[in-house]
Amino acid sequence: MSFDLVLFGGTGDLAWRKLMPALFQAFRHGTLPEGGRIIGIGRDKHSHEQYRVLMKERFDKVELAKRPSAEEFARFAALLEFVPMDLSRSADYAALADSLNARGAETVVMYVATAPSLFTTVCEQLAAVGLNAPHIRVVLEKPLGHDLASNRAINQTVRRYFAENQVFRIDHYLGKPAVQNLFALRFGNALFEPLWRREHIANIQITIAEDLGVESRGGFYETTGALRDMVQNHALQLLCAIGMEPPINAHADAIRDEKLKVLRSLKPWTAHSLASDVVRGQYSKGTAGGIAVPGYREEAGVSAHSQTETFVALRTEIANWRWAGVPFYIRTGKRLAGRDARIVVNFRPTPHAIFNAPASSANKLVIHLQPKDGLELHLLAQGQADRQSRAAAALVPVQLDLDFDKRFGSERVGAYERLLLDVIGGRLNLFVRSDEQEEAWRWVEPLIQHWAADSQGPRPYAAGSWGPSASSAMIARDGHCWAEES
Ligand code: BG6
Repeated sequence: MSFDLVLFGGTGDLAWRKLMPALFQAFRHGTLPEGGRIIGIGRDKHSHEQYRVLMKERFDKVELAKRPSAEEFARFAALLEFVPMDLSRSADYAALADSLNARGAETVVMYVATAPSLFTTVCEQLAAVGLNAPHIRVVLEKPLGHDLASNRAINQTVRRYFAENQVFRIDHYLGKPAVQNLFALRFGNALFEPLWRREHIANIQITIAEDLGVESRGGFYETTGALRDMVQNHALQLLCAIGMEPPINAHADAIRDEKLKVLRSLKPWTAHSLASDVVRGQYSKGTAGGIAVPGYREEAGVSAHSQTETFVALRTEIANWRWAGVPFYIRTGKRLAGRDARIVVNFRPTPHAIFNAPASSANKLVIHLQPKDGLELHLLAQGQADRQSRAAAALVPVQLDLDFDKRFGSERVGAYERLLLDVIGGRLNLFVRSDEQEEAWRWVEPLIQHWAADSQGPRPYAAGSWGPSASSAMIARDGHCWAEES
């Protein structure tokens, strides 16, 4: 299948860090369809050859296992081209259309990896030169807007020119193997389904912890913050994957319909829950990996009086028959004690105790997303009896441990690799539909407004900790604790 992948923002950070390495991996694995071109678009006046040289330099910084050999790069580089464009000039789009039409690839992908302010311009201009025909797909990166109104405005413009099935909204968490495994666990196995409900589950915790700070993205992060950067998209998508009803089949809309229902069922915020069920934090100086690191306000591009949150913990519920009353806790932040993304499903304790079981001994299922990818099922077993004593041995915690990296090899298809191949192949399952995205914005909007009016600001936490103590206090109120405290 011939394809042209047009990369707006072809010299930008995302292209260098994620997209090109992912395309190269697909190329190396032989999964990138033959007969493709990757066309970088940027303001600079590079020739194809200069672009290839730039790319080569960037690849030299990629981790060794994912770095092309000279011979591999030469073959990959043959796919790369560069087209200088001023994204506000109609004539430049007309020239692009001429070149794409002349080749007539079966599939054309427009990957808009530019500043979000350019999304609508690019879509309008593409449509103006006829680059919105049914075989053309458009990929939009997050952030798609900064609140509900701006997200809607983008979606409305995009919808004017492209049908919903031409639009691929990326949430790279959906491309992670562990997230696909979560779908497999829930809908490819019968075992957990009867237990997957309020009668058996006490609470569910979703943690996406990062040990890194804002790195070089201080300027971007200042206007974004953890709620928009992680909760509105990645964390809520995980919550949907955990909480959704089984879809009627594996088609994109069947899956997305069910995710949408979860988002619509999220408990609306009230003045009370805004005050008691959300904690926002901002890291102050501390340590990361044993090394002293600055606080958020000392980072480049960040105001010394910044009120931007780098941590959010919250409690919510999915108000439907399956989940009514079960707390779902979400927690994400930068400069936390480690890089750890996991979902913990805490089951209810036995209804009647006949053994002398240790405290906090209820069963739990831990879904590790990263850095480890696997499942742990925590159970209790009869420990070794003491021969001298007549007393029965106490029950001891044991666990069934599935390590997917070991089972399937750690060289698995990465998130961007998977998603790029899906765009080229026209598979929408792992992409977010506009109504889902709007619903997620609708739900986080009261938090944004509440914080804007709240002079208290985020609570400080030391870099290298698990966030403000208020986050533990919030969950302790329900009689629960975060995984690392149990
Ligand atoms: C991105 C956020 O969407 O996800 C970043 O903008 C964050 O701030 C990143 O670091 C985390 O992704 P991953 O795949 O490293 O967990």
